[in-house]
Amino acid sequence: MSKRRGSGPESERGEQAIVRMHELAALLRHHDDLYYNEAEPEITDAEYDALRREFEALERAHPEVELPDSPTRRVGADVRDRTAQKAEHRVPMLSLDSLTNAEEVREFAIRARKGLDLEEGGERDLVWSLEPKYDGVSANLLYEDGSFVLGLSRGDGRIGEVSTANYARVKGVLAKLRGKKLPRRIEVRGEILLSRSRFRELQEEQEKSDQQVFRNARNAVAGALKRVDPSGLEDFGMEFIAWGVGAYDGGNDTATYFDLLDRLTEFGFTRTDLLEEGRGTDAILDYHDRLEATRDEYAFEMDGIVAKLADMAQQRMLGRTARAPKWALAYKFAPRQAWTRVENILVQVGRTGAITPVAVLEPVDLAGVTVRRASLHNFGLLHERDVRPRDRVLVERAGDVIPEVVRVDLEARPEDSAPFDAPTHCPECREPVHGEGPVLYCSNIDCPAQIRERVIHLAGRRALDIDRLGEKYVDQLFAAGLLASVEDVFELDRHREQLLDLERWGAKSVQSLLDEIDRAKEPELARFLYALGIRHVGEKTSQDLAAHFGSFASIRDADREALLEVEGIGEVVATEISAFFASERNRAFLERLDAAGVRVRDAERKQLAEDAPLVGRTFVFTGGLESMTRDEARERVEVLGAKTVTGVSTKVTDVVVGAGSGSKRAKAEKLGLTILEEDAFLQLLEAMKS
Ligand code: IVH
Repeated sequence: MSKRRGSGPESERGEQAIVRMHELAALLRHHDDLYYNEAEPEITDAEYDALRREFEALERAHPEVELPDSPTRRVGADVRDRTAQKAEHRVPMLSLDSLTNAEEVREFAIRARKGLDLEEGGERDLVWSLEPKYDGVSANLLYEDGSFVLGLSRGDGRIGEVSTANYARVKGVLAKLRGKKLPRRIEVRGEILLSRSRFRELQEEQEKSDQQVFRNARNAVAGALKRVDPSGLEDFGMEFIAWGVGAYDGGNDTATYFDLLDRLTEFGFTRTDLLEEGRGTDAILDYHDRLEATRDEYAFEMDGIVAKLADMAQQRMLGRTARAPKWALAYKFAPRQAWTRVENILVQVGRTGAITPVAVLEPVDLAGVTVRRASLHNFGLLHERDVRPRDRVLVERAGDVIPEVVRVDLEARPEDSAPFDAPTHCPECREPVHGEGPVLYCSNIDCPAQIRERVIHLAGRRALDIDRLGEKYVDQLFAAGLLASVEDVFELDRHREQLLDLERWGAKSVQSLLDEIDRAKEPELARFLYALGIRHVGEKTSQDLAAHFGSFASIRDADREALLEVEGIGEVVATEISAFFASERNRAFLERLDAAGVRVRDAERKQLAEDAPLVGRTFVFTGGLESMTRDEARERVEVLGAKTVTGVSTKVTDVVVGAGSGSKRAKAEKLGLTILEEDAFLQLLEAMKS
């Protein structure tokens, strides 16, 4: 596969390729000119795209050839631009001054204070709205007489691309505004996002099928929004969170940014539930630090915070520069991208037999976490990104997702480097591999690598949560012969003596391992299903199955039709589940678990009786609860038949307030809704039990 230089037929082919590259570059330039400047294209988009793809392939194959005016480097010659319709924002979509340290924030606040003609030290009294800087794709939604008429991407801030049909399929992008007094015209702006959990699900799906793998939630959103055919986009799971307005007829009477967000909420939009009010620069810094420390706990990825002067009159007084308002700032979190070097590429066998390449990296710090490995997902992607040993690469860590190689620095590539070849045999058991699109599989069910991964998966935090069965210990137990199959986990108590003999294990740690395993013998249904590691059955699907069927036996015995009735389960997943439970081997495996005393707990079924106690009530949770997370709290009332929403409105019946609840509480009081403090909420749940 390696490229040689010199004379002979190979270098001749190289020369031909270079001639063709020049030819293509000229052709593409010619067609770009016709398209952009003359608005009279001679060829179809498909023909253009074919030329462009041919050029890109040659450019990848010949990174040593640098054309001064490569079509891939020119802006405005992007394939998608050729088909996208454009339109002007009624009011430009500005950017934000992006600050990276506390000093810059202090200076920004002082500039604002001076701009407002306040006395020295007056920045201590400035009131800021504080919210996350969500890492999504911004969108501008134009409503006329309450109806959604135009969706525009940010574009260059002045002109955006029309994406109305795609945006209309995003949760939270309203077809019609709610309420009676609607503005003649309003541009609602915000971020289109994909939650971490939904992103993980999509990634799981993609890795197993012949699809492109998204690098992070933001890229996934950007990709989905560019789809030419928007049908089915509603299932992608994107959500819109509003953070401002552009043109707004009659919007002048809103006194503060908080009022504005209240107004948007009344129209039916969702805003961040992390909104806070803060006085003085220290409040901005404090909010930033708190959010940065907890950023991975929230549903959506964020890359910093945004502080806006709350007072609209002050906003108007300060105005803007050419590109950004002088009344708002973004204070970024520490970056999670860095350049490092690929030391090696390893081939790993996963629990489903999927064989994946992994880049071993020179360790690099990404916002406090040392990253040593990055996922390359599959061989299709490895070849597409053409990552090679010794390459200098840009890696990114998004939340708790596995770090990824984003880009290769081709200029720094060693002369003698060669592409990494896909294996023909399983690196572990030496059986030949099978290909499914870009994904390779080892189909030997007894492959020791697969068993190891299945044990690690079973013991994982999201599965049976057996803390002491992390990778290191699993390897040790395998080496000692105490584990040879997944079911052996549940029979480790027979080997207490051997465990005690192992290095690093003492009476206490052995006991706590065995205790953990004992506890894992009575797993929750959803966790147990997930722990089984059935292909395509991730956490969400496991939860859906558990909520639908309620018991393990009924899932095991369900036929395809019954499985297809579960919301979100399609043909592919149903087939995998049926196949899993039909397999003799898996039946035997489950019988052994049964014999070892594993008893799966039944789950609460979600199909609610009409008379569920909270049917007809709608809850909002605001602020932090001490006894449970907000997600748990939502789950608790939903099981009892209630609906949950995030915004306070007259449709809401109960507002549960925890620590730090601000504007929502005030609004609920204004609307005269039932307000429940944490104690009262717990009492309510308690009362529902009887
Ligand atoms: S306000 C005039 N608020 O960050 C105010 N932007 O460079 C303009 N973003 O393009 C933006 N979260 O896509 C604002 N809470 C937030 C935001 C936010 C994310 C994005 C937005 C904008 C970029 C600013």
